[in-house]
Amino acid sequence: MNLCVVGTGYVGLVTGTVFADFGYNVCCVDKDESKIAMLCAGEMPIYEPGLEEMVQRNVEDGSLHFSSAVAKCIGESDIIFLAVGTPPGKDGYADLTAIREVALTIAQNLCSYKVIVNKSTVPAGTAQMVHDLIAAHKVQPDIDFDVVSNPEFLREGNAIQDTLQPDRIIIGAFNQKSAMSLVELYTPLERPIIVTDPYSAEVIKYASNAFLATKISFVNAIANICELVGADILQVSKGMGLDKRIGSAFLNAGLGWGGSCFGKDTACLVATADKYGYDFDLLKAVVSVNEQQPRRFVEKILNTMGDVSDKTITVLGLAFKPNTDDLRDGKSLEIVSQLCSAGATIRAYDPVAMDNAKKELPYITYCDSAYDAARGADAVVLVTEWKEFKFLDLERLRGLMKSPVIFDGRNVLNPEQVRSKGFTYHCIGRPSVGPGSDQ
Ligand code: UDX
Repeated sequence: MNLCVVGTGYVGLVTGTVFADFGYNVCCVDKDESKIAMLCAGEMPIYEPGLEEMVQRNVEDGSLHFSSAVAKCIGESDIIFLAVGTPPGKDGYADLTAIREVALTIAQNLCSYKVIVNKSTVPAGTAQMVHDLIAAHKVQPDIDFDVVSNPEFLREGNAIQDTLQPDRIIIGAFNQKSAMSLVELYTPLERPIIVTDPYSAEVIKYASNAFLATKISFVNAIANICELVGADILQVSKGMGLDKRIGSAFLNAGLGWGGSCFGKDTACLVATADKYGYDFDLLKAVVSVNEQQPRRFVEKILNTMGDVSDKTITVLGLAFKPNTDDLRDGKSLEIVSQLCSAGATIRAYDPVAMDNAKKELPYITYCDSAYDAARGADAVVLVTEWKEFKFLDLERLRGLMKSPVIFDGRNVLNPEQVRSKGFTYHCIGRPSVGPGSDQ
């Protein structure tokens, strides 16, 4: 079985590599020749734990190939996965230019029956659109094909595990023949498979991400209420999460969601609803809470510290979440920009995202470690909950700082422990504690 994966971003590269690991013959293609050159040289264009080793193993085995000859690989494959970008357009609706482009390339190279599988996140109706486009442009009118929607749910930083052990596999097919070819492909995973129509499959992806975003914004709004009434969001979310109907996952209050998916997917779902005349005001409120959350945090910092124009602030964590070097829609960008606008000098550290951060935030100082970043600081602001920040040597940190103040945007530290080491500690949805505390 020859598989072709078009697009070597997170979804395409991880999907292709995992399929190669199952023993399928996989060609990952991308029109970006520099990316393919990197991959051929064994370099990963993204940071993803475990990916490099898996790529290397399968390239050596001969089951994984990289190429920029998109048309050739499409022609030689039985199943073609579309894993190209679908960024938000001006109106929030997904920009399907790359999907259309690949569909036309497939139409021009359709020399035998093929199943075209859409893994990119696309609005309802896209599988039908891709089908119609290929049908209208295929150069050999007698050759048959099918289009299937098979949305991807992998998380950055956990992508390999999520691909090997997904909670569910969604197959949205127009007919049984194409559904079965995907069912067979995924059988080695032994995970629950739902076969449905393509429209439902496409909506499942948006509804899932929008629901997760809603859960986070909801708990963040509750955290804001906890601050006002003197409650502790960690206790509240623990108490809520034990209700099986609610569940404890995605109830961590903090600075809000970021990353490449939730923002664009919520925007696209709102735009899709608008397109059909439905006002999805619930989801608009979810987005609004998420936009306010980092602003509230910066306000808290500035209200506590006063004039920061002569102050140095340490920012720990720049990636949008731990275990990735991805900064997209990360809260660090906004928080650092606002603190800089208020006149603060920023010293930052992130275990893997600093190279990417330098492109976005060239005007701050990058340091070799959390301790180096804390040297002479008036406050530490924790933005991303990397594991190493949970186990900081607080005495050492305090000894390096000018003034022992921590703003924990992810509630990762233990307030009592931090206070016992002489810090003033501010977090999200829990009382501030320590010397100088106003609680
Ligand atoms: C998400 C979806 O989980 C995944 O299914 C989809 O395929 C792509 O989008 P990802 O963007 O990699 O994956 O990140 P995820 O781990 O879901 O976290 C998203 C954001 O929510 C992060 O900014 C994270 O810090 C934040 N988050 C998550 C919280 O603020 N609180 C939580 O309780 C959980």
